[in-house]
Amino acid sequence: MTTKPVNRQQEQAKLEDLYQSIFPYLLQTERALQDVATRGKGMIPEIVQYVVQAGGKRLRPALVVLSAQLGGTQTDDAITVGAASELIHLATLMHDDIVDRASLRHQKPTAAVEFGDDVAILLGDYLYVEAFSLLSSINDPVLIELFARSTRTMCQGEINQVKRRFQLDLTLAEYLSFIDNKTATLMAACMRGGARLARLSSDQATALGHYGYNLGMAFQIIDDTLDLVGEEAATGKTLRTDLANGKLTLPLIYLRDKLGAADRERFLSYLKDPESVSRIIDWLKESGAIREGLRQASNFAHQAQGALHSFPASSPRSSLNAIADYIVTRTR
Ligand code: IPE
Ligand code: IPE
Ligand code: MG
Ligand code: MG
Repeated sequence: MTTKPVNRQQEQAKLEDLYQSIFPYLLQTERALQDVATRGKGMIPEIVQYVVQAGGKRLRPALVVLSAQLGGTQTDDAITVGAASELIHLATLMHDDIVDRASLRHQKPTAAVEFGDDVAILLGDYLYVEAFSLLSSINDPVLIELFARSTRTMCQGEINQVKRRFQLDLTLAEYLSFIDNKTATLMAACMRGGARLARLSSDQATALGHYGYNLGMAFQIIDDTLDLVGEEAATGKTLRTDLANGKLTLPLIYLRDKLGAADRERFLSYLKDPESVSRIIDWLKESGAIREGLRQASNFAHQAQGALHSFPASSPRSSLNAIADYIVTRTR
């Protein structure tokens, strides 16, 4: 128990280390997010503050800034695009916590618990609009379309996953397409957005998009693993929601597919029984399914790093490589 908060602090220190070279940008991103709160009317400032001040890893703005820096650009536009990407992310989380019936986010009650589902749904909508309003201030329709496409894809991914809840025949290919849509696409857009601001060539933008995609795939596999075997004190959010909501994630798919007929029946009956969560988790650990999932996440992280090979060594490239390493070892 006592070691958990320390873990969280250690993780925070690791992140700060990773972000060291872009710290001033992230500070300005925070200001841009604060501005969204202060220019709101009525209850909006209070609710936006609640969500924004709770903090988060700010990974998406970091990707935008690092990608732009990789192309030699340091403009305020990277802050605007980064802030927009974080608003899209925050809006998605507000809605996702309602869908997943989660009560804790960033170490405190979710916006839905604090303000009610109805307010949280509407505030999520509000944040999406603020995100696209920020993007439109840059006056580049390609950027707006990039994030519109990824937000559309994200909604599609969430809907597809919801539609397949409690369906135990979910295939690996379906799972991979869910996490591509709901997580990897936005990270790819952040990298492509930075590349666009830096006016990188289409090949370079594609390479950075591959980095973002592979990072996102690794990121969501780790997230799904943490949901099963992580610590709430470290992640600061409600865990074990995927099992409770009938979402089959990678370790569960690996375990299901390696079982013989009799064990598989037993496993499927455990999945339908809320009392059997700890049995499933023990089984996942003992069978090596967790380890295999982590290996798959590492593969994606390596692919992400491979996508950076064509760029000369530089501080942003090192940071992006380090972020890919961090993603697979994180506990938060
Ligand atoms: C959580 O993302 C949602 C997923 C895509 C798994 P983050 O882990 O990046 O959320 P923050 O850091 O709490 O904002
Ligand atoms: C949702 O995935 C992530 C989105 C991009 C919507 P999760 O449901 O696993 O995210 P967390 O675990 O609640 O952060
Ligand atoms: Mg969730
Ligand atoms: Mg999760």
